[in-house]
Amino acid sequence: MTRRAFLSAAPAFVTFGQSGGAGVSIELRPQEAGAGISPHLYGHFIEHLGGVIYGGVWVGRQSKIPNVNGLRKTFIDDMKRIQAPNLRWPGGCFADGYHWRDGVGAPHERPRTYNFWHPRVPKGFNDTETNQFGTHEFLELCERIGCEPYLAANVGTGTPREWYDWIQYCNAPEGTVSQAAERAANGRARPFNVRFWGVGNESWGCGGFFRPQEYANEYRRFVSQLPRYNDMFLIAAGPSGGDLNWTRGFLETMPPSFYRGRVPMHGWALHYYTSFRESNNRSKEFSAEHWNAVIENGRRIENLIESHWKIMGEHDKEHRIKLVIDEWGTWYPTGDEVRPEYILSQQVTLRDAVHAAMNLDIFHRHAEKIAMANIAQTVNCLHSLFLADGDKFVRTPAYHVYEMYMPHLGARVIPCRIPEMKNGLMGSASIKGGRVTLTLANPSLDTSFDASVQLAGASAVEAGGRVLTDSDMRAANTFDAPERIKPAPLRVSVAGGKLAATIPPKSVASIGIRLAT
Ligand code: AHR
Repeated sequence: MTRRAFLSAAPAFVTFGQSGGAGVSIELRPQEAGAGISPHLYGHFIEHLGGVIYGGVWVGRQSKIPNVNGLRKTFIDDMKRIQAPNLRWPGGCFADGYHWRDGVGAPHERPRTYNFWHPRVPKGFNDTETNQFGTHEFLELCERIGCEPYLAANVGTGTPREWYDWIQYCNAPEGTVSQAAERAANGRARPFNVRFWGVGNESWGCGGFFRPQEYANEYRRFVSQLPRYNDMFLIAAGPSGGDLNWTRGFLETMPPSFYRGRVPMHGWALHYYTSFRESNNRSKEFSAEHWNAVIENGRRIENLIESHWKIMGEHDKEHRIKLVIDEWGTWYPTGDEVRPEYILSQQVTLRDAVHAAMNLDIFHRHAEKIAMANIAQTVNCLHSLFLADGDKFVRTPAYHVYEMYMPHLGARVIPCRIPEMKNGLMGSASIKGGRVTLTLANPSLDTSFDASVQLAGASAVEAGGRVLTDSDMRAANTFDAPERIKPAPLRVSVAGGKLAATIPPKSVASIGIRLAT
């Protein structure tokens, strides 16, 4: 937030407890700054599935919808606005059936191939992958957004050779290997310098149905002779939710030499969905009980982070390998899609915004353990930031959380004690350049919290805030009402170096605090 926005969001003074909400005393310790919050915790993910790529990100070069070389312009602009740090592609499950050469070269000469995901869509939908969006289109998208690409290699149905060719195609300097010449012939002489590489996806499931020991053997085979042109960050396919046996089985299969010297693995990918896909807990129509179930289930991720981290430390004593939560978010039953062929798409409501905020706060509180996190998936999918249909494009409440939480990017986490953290208000705090950011998620449907915020060893001189809330727990932004829900100013008072603010029910708040020097 600029200084101007920071101040303008701090209007009238309110007195403590004025609203009649529950009192809560929050303590922040700005002098005990801990781990840095990697901007990569705010990562994204797009896959060739339903309406994510075709219809979402990619509108085509001939489209009347504003685009840059076929890439939807509003998508680029909004991703820039929230300083999206990275984008994962091409999957997801799709990655383990994807052969990258199908998606390079002259667009009209690219093969039409089978897409694992499309046969599930209703009859009549074209279930063929056209490969019009491939490596160059994806990497151009990342460059235009200003984010780092994260490519997932095909382990399930591919070979190390195929992956090595892709690495060379993306990263080899001009005038070296043949893959660099091939890249230049396709219009790009300079290397793309891709740093983040996933070695398969969900290898316990759609990525090969491996046992952890089998995947560990594959992983070694895939990484042992890597063409390294840059400082690669290698991400192994980790567990689904609480599957501790996957983490244990993989890590104990590796010989001790694996953990010494230059460990050929930097990230361990944990996937956790707050999943209600087999229930009647829908994305649009839901009860208070359904709301609470989603919050309760989403909160489990904190325990998963701690449990997997502990096992990781038994093998990688110095914790050089970090968690990469490269798929997380809410997942409801099918039936609420933007269009029937947009499989896995759903409405994103205020409930999902509160859930997103709660998870981002959890990630901050474990910033030393997590190198990256990617909400799934960015457009027309599960916990999306955007919905698109033709030229219609809307920012969901989840987008607004990402925008409100931006001051945390690259800041250092500070201790934040909230007595209600277990059954009510949750949050996290960080400091960057003398400015403290406190973010809060209030999942209660009826309790507002009168928060008084103290800063141990420091004093606030000014503060301002914003809040995302609505009287209706199901509030969403739709094509007809795209701005139904968006951040509004939050009244924050400063007196005697402390702050006070009332955090309404079912809300997300972001408070910026300038400290006395
Ligand atoms: O995000 C949707 C799917 O969920 C991904 O393709 C897969 O990795 C996960 O099971």
